[in-house]
Formats: sequence, C-alpha cells, structure tokens
Amino acid sequence: MWERTKHTTNLISICVFLCFLLGNPCLCIGGDTLSRGQSLSGTQTLISKDGIFELGFFTPGSSSSQNTYLGIWYKDFPERTTVWVANRETPLRQDSTLEIAQNGNLVLMSHDSDAVWSTNLISTLPDTVEAVLLDSGNLILRDGPSPSTVFWQSFDHPTDTWLPGASLGFDKITGRAQRLVSWKNADDPSPGMFSVEMSQDQVFQFFLRWNMSTTYWRSGAWNGIVFGSVPEISYLTSFSFVSSERSTYYNYTVLNRAVLSMFVINALGEFEQRTSLRSHHSWSPTYVLPKNQSDIFAFCGAFGVFAGSTSNPCTCLHGFTQTRPNDWSAGCSRTTLVQCGNSNSTQGEKYGFMEVPDTTLPANPTAHPARNSRGCELACRQSCSCTAYAFNGSGCSVWEGDLFDTRNVSSNQDNKQRLYIKLANSDLPVDKGKWKKMLVVIVAVLVSSFVIVSGGFLGCFYTRRTKQKEVKKESGEDLLSFDFNSSVQPNDNGTVLRHRNHADFDLPMFSYASVCAATDNFSPENKLGEGGFGPVYKGKLLNGQEIALKRLSKKSGQGVEEFRNEILLIAKLQHRNLVRLLGCCIDPDESILIYEYMPNKSLDFFLFGSDKEVILDWTTRARIVEGIAQGLLYLHEYSRVRIIHRDLKASNILLDEEMNPKISDFGLARIFGGNDSRTYTKRIVGTFGYMAPEYALQGLFSIQSDVFSFGVLVLEIVSGKRNTGFYLTDTLNLLGHAWELWVSGRGAELVDPAVGCSPASAALRYINVGLLCVQENPNDRPNMSSVISMLSSELSTPLPAPKQPAFSTTTAVSSASVVNISAGKYSVNGLTVSALQPR
Ligand SMILES: *[C@@H]1O[C@H](CO)[C@@H](O)[C@H](O)[C@H]1NC(C)=O
Ligand SMILES: *[C@@H]1O[C@H](CO)[C@@H](O)[C@H](O)[C@H]1NC(C)=O
Ligand SMILES: *[C@@H]1O[C@H](CO)[C@@H](O)[C@H](O)[C@H]1NC(C)=O
Ligand SMILES: *[C@@H]1O[C@H](CO)[C@@H](O)[C@H](O)[C@H]1NC(C)=O
Ligand SMILES: *[C@@H]1O[C@H](CO)[C@@H](O)[C@H](O)[C@H]1NC(C)=O
Ligand SMILES: *[C@@H]1O[C@H](CO)[C@@H](O)[C@H](O)[C@H]1NC(C)=O
Repeated sequence: MWERTKHTTNLISICVFLCFLLGNPCLCIGGDTLSRGQSLSGTQTLISKDGIFELGFFTPGSSSSQNTYLGIWYKDFPERTTVWVANRETPLRQDSTLEIAQNGNLVLMSHDSDAVWSTNLISTLPDTVEAVLLDSGNLILRDGPSPSTVFWQSFDHPTDTWLPGASLGFDKITGRAQRLVSWKNADDPSPGMFSVEMSQDQVFQFFLRWNMSTTYWRSGAWNGIVFGSVPEISYLTSFSFVSSERSTYYNYTVLNRAVLSMFVINALGEFEQRTSLRSHHSWSPTYVLPKNQSDIFAFCGAFGVFAGSTSNPCTCLHGFTQTRPNDWSAGCSRTTLVQCGNSNSTQGEKYGFMEVPDTTLPANPTAHPARNSRGCELACRQSCSCTAYAFNGSGCSVWEGDLFDTRNVSSNQDNKQRLYIKLANSDLPVDKGKWKKMLVVIVAVLVSSFVIVSGGFLGCFYTRRTKQKEVKKESGEDLLSFDFNSSVQPNDNGTVLRHRNHADFDLPMFSYASVCAATDNFSPENKLGEGGFGPVYKGKLLNGQEIALKRLSKKSGQGVEEFRNEILLIAKLQHRNLVRLLGCCIDPDESILIYEYMPNKSLDFFLFGSDKEVILDWTTRARIVEGIAQGLLYLHEYSRVRIIHRDLKASNILLDEEMNPKISDFGLARIFGGNDSRTYTKRIVGTFGYMAPEYALQGLFSIQSDVFSFGVLVLEIVSGKRNTGFYLTDTLNLLGHAWELWVSGRGAELVDPAVGCSPASAALRYINVGLLCVQENPNDRPNMSSVISMLSSELSTPLPAPKQPAFSTTTAVSSASVVNISAGKYSVNGLTVSALQPR
C-alpha cells in the first residue's frame, strides 16, 4: 500500500515538474482521471475509459452567449448531448480551471481565483483523492488506493438527465429529494420551470411539476415491474426499486446493450426518453410524457395562450409578442411597456384594460374583496404589479405578475368570468364607442338565442355556409341523399368499378353541412372511437345506409390541394382486406374521410375483450391472419404507390359480418408523415409493443417495420394475449414468452386455450412465421409475399429458424443485436453465447 502511494506521489511530482518546465500546467491530463496537482482548463477534457462520456468546458447552444459551463456530455455525438452541468447557476465568463483543492474538494476556480463551484465536502479527505469520469457518465471523487471509497458522485446531484445506473429518489434522513430540473432553454442550463421528483408518500411515483409546486403529471404507482400510467416505458428499460435505511430510489438499466438511453426533462415540460444505437450517434425521442401537451401546465409560458394540441399549440395574448423565436418556454412579453406594469414604473405608456374573449382564466389568482366589476378594475389599477382581473358576479380575482396557463376555449362555452388584461393604450383595440358596443351586445344576444332556439344543426350549417362563400371548392354533394350502392360496385376480385362519372374526381366530395347532419352534429352518442389520427363517428344516410366518418385532427401542414391529391391517391387503393374509402369532405378547418361501416368491432375486442362473447376458432384466426397479410402485401407491393402503414395493430383491424379482416387507417401515415418508402421521422407515431426496434429507436421506418408489427399481430392472434401488458416474472412481453416456448420445443403451449383443438402443425407454422417477422435485424425479416407463401405452403416444407426477437427479455442480450447492430468497438465480447437453438 505504502509502496503504491509513494509511487503515485512520485508520478505526480514528475508530472508537476514537467508541467512547470513546459509552462502549461494542463498538459499532463490524460484519460479519465484528475489527480491532486492536476487541473483542467480550456479545451482539455477527461474521457471515460471506453470513450463514452467526456467532461470539460462548453458553451451551450448558439455561440451568441459567452457563458461557459463545466459539464459532462456523450462523446462523439454530432449534436452535443449534455447530461450534467456543474455550475448551472453560475456561468463562467473567462478561462477557469477545475482542480482538486487543498482540502481535497473538487473545485471550479474562476479567473480571479474564486471558487465558482465545489463539491463542498466538509470531512477531511485523504491526499490520495482523485476525480474519475466513469463510463456510466458518473463523475466521482474517490480514494485512489481504495477505489471503492467514493466521497462524492455527480449522480447524486443530477441536472436534467437521469442516466442508466443513477438513482432518482430521496434521502430518508434529511428528506432531501434528488430532482431533475429542466434547463431554462437550449442555450441556458440555469434551472427552468419544470422538474421531476419522486413522491415521498407510500406510492413512490414520479411527479412532473411546474415551479416546484403545481403537479401536472404522475407516473402512477409502481407494481414491481411497471408504472401504472405508463406500462410501456418498461419496453426498453428495466427499473428497480430500492429502499434502504438511508434512502429510497429507482434506478434502471437498458435491456439491450447496443442501445443508449436516458430520461430528460426538457424546457417545455416534457419528460422524454431518448434512445440511440451506440453506433448511430443520434437521439430520437422514444417516449414523450405526458402524451398530451394539453396536460402540461403553462406549456406556452408567461402570457402565452394554449390553443390546442396541434402543430402550432401556442399564441400570445393580445398586446404581447413571443420573447424568443421558436421557444415557448420563455413565453411572451409586452409589445409596449405600461407606466405601472410589472417591469418598470418610470417608463412606459398610460394603460387601460382589454377584455380577452374565449379563454380560461390564468392560474393562481388572488381573491380581492371588491364587490363589483368596477371595484375589481380599481383594485388592479392600484397595484403596479397587477396584470389582470376578472369578476365573476360574486367575487373579484386579480393576478399579480406573469399570467400562466391561459387556454383558448370555443366561444360558445359560457364563461361568466371575463378576463381583463392591463395593456398600454396604444395596444388597446380601437374603441368604437359605447353605443356601438351595446349594439354589438344586443345583436350577439339575439343571434345566440336564435342559434340556441334553432339548434345545433342550423348553427353548424350556418357557419359553414359563410365559409363556403369564401372558399369556392367548399361545395360538395349532399351526403344524406347520396347512394353509394349505385355509384360504386365491387367486382368479384375485390376491386371496385365506378359507374358514376365525376368531372374532377372519382371520389365523391361532400358538403360539411350534410356531413354534420348525417352524424347528428358529431354527437357523442355517434362516436365509435378514437383512432390514431382523430375520432371516428357513425353516420346514417336517408336510405338507411350506415357509414363511418373519420375526423382528421390536423392536416400536418399540408395545403388543401396536396391533401386532396393524397386522399385521391389513397382512394384508389381498393382491396377486399382494406376498409373502403367512400368519400370525403374537405373544409378549410378540418377534413373528414368517409368509410364503409363495419358492424363488428375491431379485432382487439374479440382477442382481448373482457367479455369474449364470440370466441374466434382456429379457422377464423387463420383466415384473419391471411387476410391481413394479403392487405399488407397489396399496400406494400401491388398498389400504385408503396404505402407503409406505420400503425398496424389489433385495434386497426376491423371485421365484417363474416369476420373477414379489413385494415383501417392505411395511407394516413403518408398524409401525416414522409412519402419515401424508407425514411427517417423525428416524431414517432405508432403504438408501443408493435413498433420495430429500428423505428422505435431511430425513427427509421420501412416495409420491414410494418412486417414487424404484422409479426406481433400474428403472435397475438395465435395466443390471444396482448404484447404489451403481458408480463411474467422473468419475461418482459409476449415476444419473449413466445421465444422461450419456441426454443424449448413447447411452441404449441402458446396457442390460446380458447380455440379448442387446433391443428398443432399449422399453429406452429404460424408461430414460426410470426417469430421470423419480429427478428431484430430488418433484413432478416421476410417480405409479405414470402410470408404469404410460408403461411400457405405445404406442411412438409420446412421454414427457416427464427432468431431471438427484438426486446424480448429482461435478462439475455440477443446475440443478433450485438453482432448486427453495434459497431466493432462496442460489441460486447463473449455475449455471442446465447446458445438457445430451436428444437
Ligand atoms: C440499483 O441499485 C441497487 C442498490 O444500490 C444496485 O444493487 C443495483 O445494481 C442498481 N441497479 C442498476 C441498474 O444500477
Ligand atoms: C414560483 O414559486 C415561488 C415560491 O413558491 C414564488 O415566489 C414565485 O413567484 C413562483 N414563480 C412564478 C413564476 O409563479
Ligand atoms: C388532449 O387533451 C384534451 C383535453 O383533455 C383533449 O380535448 C384532446 O382531445 C387531447 N388530445 C389528444 C391528442 O388526445
Ligand atoms: C427602468 O427605467 C429606468 C429609467 O428609464 C432605466 O434606467 C432602467 O434600466 C429601467 N429598468 C428596467 C428593469 O427596465
Ligand atoms: C368567483 O371568484 C371568487 C374570487 O376569486 C371565488 O372565490 C369564487 O369561487 C368564484 N365563484 C365562482 C362561481 O366561480
Ligand atoms: C381561440 O379560438 C377562437 C375560436 O374558438 C379563435 O377565433 C381565436 O383566434 C383563438 N385565439 C387564439 C389566441 O388562439
């Protein structure tokens, strides 16, 4: 021991001497360790042993800011991914150094030798203390001769990122919680408004909070395997719950060694899981929580208005403009300062109040005893920091400072509480005089009572009519009296011949008013369900025919003309295993697709429904699998354009009266995503459990990712179990379970006992095909035409043996993933031992 210490000391002195000689104290840094006497400055970095993480000084975001920080980031990613920042609240302006101080603490010394940041340990540390950057991304301060003695670690003081292996919980003795706090924005690591922490009650769930106070999302209770409201988050990662005498926390590992993954709370308040293949060096968001942006508190920042979960969810209140372009975390600021506003009382204009229509009231009002609207306004005038007031008939509310969490609501909602905001006179709308105002009120009252009396139908009709005048193409046929049977007729090979001749299109376009009428104004009783791209309603024509209408939530930035072309293209896809598109209605505000109505529910209802009143027998299941395969083959290969579905799952398979499967929602991915047959997407649509690994991890979709979803579907149909939500103690999901049974020669046990007796050899063949489709490497998966020939081929032809499916187990790492995906440097030696072979 003594020998070793002496040796180290010698090394250090030689080093110090050399540095002194060369006049640069920093030359001796190398590798992952900073010892006493060494320092880190400028562009020098520590690099973890396997070259995964790097520690050094950096300037975040756009170079306009001169602030530098000490941080840890993933090495070799083209876009710097910072996972930890030491001095997030105290940026450095000039050259500074990181060193181990006399007392053994790691300190960040500024230019003027002030300690800007320190590990702040009060106990005496040995002379042999050293700082090491580990391959987990953890910076530790440890005793050189006995490395297991760790005095301090960066994992205990996270910034906004939770890395695999790090704990996130709280200290039972001090009650101190480890908290991830978002950056203010991409250029500023100082603490933003959003944070994540673990609850200290008996539920131990995670909370997302705004300003450390308002909780807007909960993970749900932990059941030992998954969190209640996000079970799918255990798809890529395995969480452990640890409760010791000192602390309670969760930590996690990534199941597949070829994958890097982390959780980050971003500046918009979203808790994201980002993943990348080790070899790819590019992150994609695999989960974004909460799933619905409207659940995030104050998503649009100060004085912002949330207008709905669309591509453009935020606007500013009247008289305010966005503070930072393309960044809503900073919200909006006044266009013109007011004399007695929230910022500066000596500058600015005189002000007045403006009524804000159609919004909810901002969060956190203060009640004021004023008894009427006038008194309420006076209260707000008397307080310089007051920015808004509202009087609701019985009480007065005032708001001091910034207004948060205002949301746009439709005008017909009765909001008795009108919000008035303080604005500079030049920003107030031009006052048209009191008489005019009164006239407007009277007219409004008359019109609204007329609308109420004449009912929703007329209202819908009326507003659309006004719009139709502006947009000529609005006009359309009357859906109610349309006869689909005479206009289109399927011939016997499943395709459709059209008899009716339309000048412009061969797909009928209907007027919005008639669509409203057919669905009883989209009444909730007519709602059939909610699909990936919008809600589906049932409609009825005058001749009694029933139809299904899909109300597309948004047009994905496409213009009306491109959108129409895209729909016409989809309408040309006609196959007996695709739900038939009968017509559409394109309106400037929304688009509605009209489909044939399927009286039976979707496949998931029959497979997993709680009251399985109809049990699907083997013949039906086989026919369903084959039908889906035919429909998918048509989409992939035979139609005029290659269509990738991207969201194939049991609830998107509808069944007709004879239980023939029909794929729905096809082609919509084309409207809402890219057109290329193999392409990257930034935002991943799709359903966890059905998503191929390359799609979930890299956003890379192709016909092979559809084949993966098909494989999952086949295994679900055979077993009657969902891929997600099916957990055994040591197997994560259905794929893993199927694989285990398969390699141990017990494949027949996977078949749903409810089907009664099934031809075992046929069932095994289906399982074999299913497993081939869910292989990790996209190139190993068969295409749909080979799937069909494998399903139908003679029983004597042997099928290829599948490799272990992607993300199937919590324990083993598939040999395929290591060999095929990871680049040489990171491939894990000795893991090609997974010697399980099918029978
Ligand atoms: C989680 O923490 C426990 C206890 O400290 C440890 O045994 C386990 O290895 C950790 N798991 C991971 C994935 O880091
Ligand atoms: C955040 O909370 C603190 C303390 O609870 C409070 O003083 C501050 O005004 C809050 N910030 C905002 C923007 O509401
Ligand atoms: C998000 O939530 C809001 C309000 O609860 C709801 O109206 C909206 O339809 C939801 N959006 C999606 C895409 O689920
Ligand atoms: C307030 O106004 C004074 C005088 O015009 C100015 O010097 C000061 O910088 C202003 N402060 C802020 C915060 O805008
Ligand atoms: C009216 O506003 C007062 C003061 O904020 C509040 O206490 C009261 O609950 C409100 N009443 C209604 C009906 O919203
Ligand atoms: C709020 O919605 C109304 C329609 O309900 C719309 O006219 C208005 O422009 C929206 N306001 C904002 C700020 O988005």
